[in-house]
Parts: sequence; structure tokens; C-alpha cells
Amino acid sequence: MSDLGAEFVLYCEEAALPRLAERYGKPLYVYSAAMITQRYEAFDAAFRRIPHMICYSVKANSNLSILRLLAKKGCGFDVVSGGELERVLAADRKAASKVVFSGVGKTQEELTAALKVGILLFNVESESEMWTLAECAGRLRKTAPVALRVNPDVAAETHPYISTGLHKHKFGVPIGDARALYSKASGARYLKVCGVSVHIGSQITDVSAFGEALTRVAQLVRELRSEGHRIDYVDAGGGLGIAYETPSGEFPDYVAQYARALTTPLQGLDVRLLLEPGRSIVGPAGLLLTSVIYRKKNDGKRFLVVDAAMNDLIRPALYGAYHEIVPVVRHSGDAETEVVDVVGPVCETGDFFARDRELPEVQEGDLLAILDAGAYGMVLTSNYNTRPRPAEVLVTGKSAKVIRRRERVSDLLRAEE
Ligand code: LLP
Repeated sequence: MSDLGAEFVLYCEEAALPRLAERYGKPLYVYSAAMITQRYEAFDAAFRRIPHMICYSVKANSNLSILRLLAKKGCGFDVVSGGELERVLAADRKAASKVVFSGVGKTQEELTAALKVGILLFNVESESEMWTLAECAGRLRKTAPVALRVNPDVAAETHPYISTGLHKHKFGVPIGDARALYSKASGARYLKVCGVSVHIGSQITDVSAFGEALTRVAQLVRELRSEGHRIDYVDAGGGLGIAYETPSGEFPDYVAQYARALTTPLQGLDVRLLLEPGRSIVGPAGLLLTSVIYRKKNDGKRFLVVDAAMNDLIRPALYGAYHEIVPVVRHSGDAETEVVDVVGPVCETGDFFARDRELPEVQEGDLLAILDAGAYGMVLTSNYNTRPRPAEVLVTGKSAKVIRRRERVSDLLRAEE
């Protein structure tokens, strides 16, 4: 360490990142509990003028401690598998009545498990699923609360892999077919029609697309009601994007804009609005801590080879996603920058975190923080190259708690013959 000039160290809340790296090893996911809570509260406050419930989308980050943190605040949950439902119940055994179940391929086992615990709403995505649900419910002599997920044919400006609201996508039923299906559903003894749901994609930063989708949904609600259906819920899905690249304004203002876009078309409808945010709650609240193993140069090109890899955070490899990367320790005299590729040790060219990125010069052994990694980070990890998954730490003020221990190679070998 240089003793010339001051040293700037990155913190998560009041915990210094170098201390966390020393204590818990690297690569390491670090989350701020305060930030998760604040973002949840800002989200909730933005919708205060309309009856609503936030059903946090578990797929974004499903760690039990994070689910517990949100459950304590009164948050509900959006799940897409039997596994996620089990997680939610493990985090809070009384949460079932606040769970919505989405997904195009729910199995009979999954539907039955959800019926048994009595969830709030099934977001049904096809006629076949509707009849399967009716059958499962009949077997249990329980009534299934149903919303059809409609596909509004609205284009959302986002990566093609995570855009879902067009007819060419596999999701939902075309909005034009919905009325016929609702009328079939209302004739089924063990189904209770009670809502309409929609989700047009993820990482959407132009809120007008949400407004457009909700305008179509509101029209459908009016039509359905005039045909005698009772529609209590509109589930607007998730999808609000975050600022990975350029810092934007304050979250409360941004989420207020989003709330206006969603609620304006619903005015006068008297529905309970369900929301399924994932990324916008946890994304900015997490980072991935990694250190530089080697610096290397191939001809003119410079690489920083770090100890995290695409198996630890796949978003850059999978979507070409941008994540801000910052050195954890800076000295006031440091002014040099260089253009580098930040890459992992995995044997694939796609194993990168940044390409041709201008970064302050760092040395072997230095720590880097990959920012905005709280959503779709840990949940998308794998053991590719037999790399054990990172540990996760949740910071509250000065204290840090390991909420998932680092995997060991022995954990991986145990399941095999
Ligand atoms: N509801 C439904 C029905 C969804 O399919 C999703 C996300 C959400 C809610 C939550 O969306 P959010 O608020 O987080 O945008 N792995 C990708 C994102 C995939 C999103 C899948 N569905 C990524 O890393 O960008």
C-alpha cells in the first residue's frame, strides 16, 4: 500500500470490503440489507394510493435470508417452481396466502403442492394448464384462484432473451383469445376466476411500455366484468429496469414514474394491483467481490484475469450485459487508467465481465467489485469447470452474516457415483 496520499476503501454499509474478502474469501457476493429494505419500501410507497401487494419475484435472488428480510416487511412472493415455493415457505411458513405462481410449464406436482398450501393466485399461461389445474384442484376438492396471463403484444425495449410480451414469445395467452378462455374457466367447478395478469419482460427502463400493456389489460377487465366475471386482481408482473451503466436519479422518483404509468390506465377500476418486481429491489443492493489473479498482455491487448468467472455471474456472457467494475481500494495519487478486458479463468472466450473497459490501473492481488449483481447473479451460478459456488454475505450496518456458505468441491462430488 502506498503511504503517499489518502486511501479510499469501498464499503458495503459500514463493512469494509477488504475485510469481508479476507474473512470470507473470494469470489464473494455481498448484499446490503438496508438497501434491499429501502428499495422495497420505496416501491411500496409509490403505490400507496391504490390497493396493492408487492410479490417479490423470487427468481431474482432466492436466498432464504433475503426472502425472510422481505417477508418481515410484509412482502408477498412471485414463484415459478415448486422449489421456489418451498423456499418461500421455509423462509416464512405463513407466506402461502401471499404467493402468486407464474410460469409456462407448471407440472401437476407443482400445481398440487401450491393448491395444498393455499396460495393467493395461479397465473395460468395456457388452456392446457387451465384444465390440468382444474383437475388437480378437483382431486383435492379445493378451488383454485385463477388469473390468465395475457400476452398484450406490446414490444418492450430490452434484450431479446428477456422480452416476453409479443405474440411470438412463449408466454401467456394472446389477449384476443382471453375472453373465450375466461368463459371456459368460469364454467369449471374447481376454478375461481379472479384476476388478469401480464408481464412484458425484464430490464425495461422506458415505463411507457408498461402503461401500454396496462391500458390493454384495463380494457380486458372492463369487458370481462361486463360479461359477468369477477375480477379482483390485476397482476402487472415485474420488469422495471435498473441503471447498470449510467447512474440515474433517485429510485423513489423513478419508481413513482413507473407507478403512474401502471395506475393511470387502472383508474376507476377498483382492483387490487399485484406487482412482481425482482431486479429493481435486489439488483443494486448486491455486488460480486473478486480479485485479480494475473495481469497479462497478448500483443497489445491487456487482460485482468480475476478469480470470479462466468459460472459465478453469467449476465455478461449470456446477454452481453454491462456491469460497472470498480477497484475496491484507491489512493488519492492514482490517476493512471488503462483499457482492459476483465476475464475469468473458465475455458471459454465468452468468460468475460468487461471488454475494452477503461479502468484505473490495478495490480495482481487487488480487489475489484462488480456492481449491481444482486439480481440474477447467484441464482444463475453453475459449477461449470467444477468451480464451487461463491459464498453470500448479508451486511447490516457493521455486521456481516454469511447467508450461504462457500461451496466445497466435496459438495459437488457427493451427489455423484
Ligand atoms: N414476473 C415474471 C412472470 C417474470 O418472468 C419475471 C422475470 C419477473 C416477474 C421479475 O422481473 P424483474 O422485475 O426482475 O425484471 N436473467 C435475466 C432476467 C430474466 C427475467 C425473467 N423473468 C437477467 O439477468 O437479466
